[in-house]
Amino acid sequence: MQLNIALLKGDGIGPEVLNQAIKCLKAVEETFNHQFKFTEAEVGAIAIANSGVPLTEKTITICKSSDAILFGAIGELEFDNNPDAKVRPEQALLKLRKELGLYANIRPVKVFADLVENSLLPKKIITGTDLVIYRELTGGIYFGKKSLSKDGTVASDLCEYSEEKITRIAHMAFKSAKRRKQKLTLVDKANVLETSRLWRKIVTEIAKSYPEVQLECLFIDNAIIQLTMNPSKFDVILTDNMFGDIITSLGSVIIGSVGLLPSASIGDKNAMFAPFHGSYPQATGKNIANPVASIFSAVLLLQHFNLHEEAIAVSRAIQKSFKKGITTTDILGSNKYGTNAVGDFIAANIVDSDENLSLNYENIGLGRSTII
Ligand code: IPM
Ligand code: MG
Repeated sequence: MQLNIALLKGDGIGPEVLNQAIKCLKAVEETFNHQFKFTEAEVGAIAIANSGVPLTEKTITICKSSDAILFGAIGELEFDNNPDAKVRPEQALLKLRKELGLYANIRPVKVFADLVENSLLPKKIITGTDLVIYRELTGGIYFGKKSLSKDGTVASDLCEYSEEKITRIAHMAFKSAKRRKQKLTLVDKANVLETSRLWRKIVTEIAKSYPEVQLECLFIDNAIIQLTMNPSKFDVILTDNMFGDIITSLGSVIIGSVGLLPSASIGDKNAMFAPFHGSYPQATGKNIANPVASIFSAVLLLQHFNLHEEAIAVSRAIQKSFKKGITTTDILGSNKYGTNAVGDFIAANIVDSDENLSLNYENIGLGRSTII
């Protein structure tokens, strides 16, 4: 298969972790005979420094004409510490989501057997966790009208949702639940918010077309308790943009490191794959950042193009690194490997051998639970 992949390395540890994902995709290219064409484009603080804006037209054009985008990370301390900065790296991410119509943000959270000790939560609570969060990404309070009064003392952000925006992601989430453990949890605040009541009404109606899927509705405040105390009871979680931002962060508590979690942002025309984590500026250039979230993002990219055998090969190589303790220091029991060494190990173990295929490794998936 030929794929044009745009590379948006971004800020902080973005370039170092993305380089490991590229290594792995190159190994896939060689092993499975594909042609991946990589095109780099500027985004974030680097783009602000070079062009005055966090996302240039040139970058948007490269992204729109690519089959997929691999994204590193975004954000710089200089901006985090300055609430008055008008131009901010994060604006690039929001603009990309909007311009490319990436309305479904998919964030799988899976506890791997070899990493079960890694979480601060007790083993008996997190064992067996395998859930996926579908977060609406182009609507709600993130994109509603914003205002600040002239004297700067009153501000507002409008939260708006249309039936259309809710319907398209709801179908995606139900289809995923149908293929997985047949359970969908809608997370909202329908006891208070009008938008949440609309979500509940529409999702309850759509549920009738998926009779095999059990629908549960939880208020966000209750959902975060349930998710922390009993994460393994969840399958697919569907929620709006703001609640999705909050609830997906809990995934890193469950799994014990934000450096392990990937995400896919899907639209009708484009798709972007990125780690959950931010740019971790304190670690920039130190060769200590965990590249696994970025490499798992490449796994999601492969699955998006139905390259399942390839996705499984990379996923297995990652799990082999867990088993052998070839992990960065954020992982308990690690032998203190650096970002590059972990990337090298995983890339070197992406082989299509019979030996690997017969091993009972787990897979991480977009809309799939354990495949093999
Ligand atoms: C995320 C991030 C972004 C968001 C920020 C960086 C704009 O927190 O992807 O979860 O809030 O969506
Ligand atoms: Mg977030």
